[in-house]
Amino acid sequence: MLYSTRLRIHLGNIADNLRAIRKTVGAERALLWVVKADGYGHGAVPLARMAQEQNLVDWLGVATVPEAIELRAAGITLPILKLSPALPDEMAAAIAHDVILTVADRDNADALEGVCRDTGGQAKVHLKVDTGLSRTGIAPDLAGVLAGHVVRHCPRLELDGVFTHLSVADVPEQDDFTGLQLSRFAAAVDAVCAAAGYRPRHVHAANSAAILAHEHTWMTMVRAGIIGYGAFPGPTAARTVPLAPGLSWLSRVSFVKTIPAGESVSYGRTWTASRPTRVGTVPIGYGDGLSRFLSNRGRFLVNGRSCPIIGRVCMDQTMIDLGPDGDVAVGDEVVVIGSSGDETITIEEMSETIGTVPYELFCYLTRRVEREYR
Ligand SMILES: Cc1ncc(COP(=O)(O)O)c(C=O)c1O
Repeated sequence: MLYSTRLRIHLGNIADNLRAIRKTVGAERALLWVVKADGYGHGAVPLARMAQEQNLVDWLGVATVPEAIELRAAGITLPILKLSPALPDEMAAAIAHDVILTVADRDNADALEGVCRDTGGQAKVHLKVDTGLSRTGIAPDLAGVLAGHVVRHCPRLELDGVFTHLSVADVPEQDDFTGLQLSRFAAAVDAVCAAAGYRPRHVHAANSAAILAHEHTWMTMVRAGIIGYGAFPGPTAARTVPLAPGLSWLSRVSFVKTIPAGESVSYGRTWTASRPTRVGTVPIGYGDGLSRFLSNRGRFLVNGRSCPIIGRVCMDQTMIDLGPDGDVAVGDEVVVIGSSGDETITIEEMSETIGTVPYELFCYLTRRVEREYR
């Protein structure tokens, strides 16, 4: 081992999470697993391979065309949906790699039809309706017109699906808004069916939070992201599906020293020892994706004990207070996320400590950290 900071990816836990999601929503629905941003930092290719080989999911979802191409190059044959509209110059590659594209307005549909005509290709599309997230999507009252346009004027496009994305499905206090989004979506879907003359094969709205809390959103397909990796979408999200963490983040102590009271630690001298204590240095920093906001706020586990991060997190190293009698030696394992003895640090705890969400922390994890698949 040439670098002791590593991510241990728990393939068995992730497979169990996907099985639990399937059991929850039922086998009659398609399960799309979102593996964008390199599988939320866990490694899209190995996880998609596992999901395909073990028949754990039916579709995959990505954010970008290169993400889809990477999966195809790795032998993934599952249907792949790009969850947001492609720009015109991304379309030919997407079609060549059999990516199902999101269409959200007439110009985009026409551009895709033009690329299909020029390349001799065909494209399946899912029409995205903006019911309140205000990110991408056609307004609900224009969805029927767009569907009619695609069906009548874009012969190389097949309208395979219609979907929307929910903004507060993890916040019970805002269930009224989720209800409003769903009623706007229902009206849009009716208009799409009437204009197209048929019901698209897939009608979908549910993200992880909606899988956990809003059964009426499950429709013909659900789009599970973060719960597949064993994390909950937010502090108020329902805990209705049993999940196990998809990763542990580990390192080792690289240096131990005793400092006297009054000695400061790390850049900026933001922490000063109030008593003599032993300080452990850990070779992990924001170069690995450990947020600098954890400076003086986060903690690691060493030999079953919780050790606060002291001073500023550096690019490659972080110091922890081992306590005056800390019995810790160079080489001892450090748990950044995961369990040691009776103590556990979750991705949820780490993200709440710095006021963010597990999604963002997963995306911080850099390439320098080796992923060890178990
Ligand atoms: C359109 C769409 N569907 C589903 C998801 C999955 O979200 P989650 O990880 O909350 O399940 C995302 C992620 O951002 C998304 O953009």
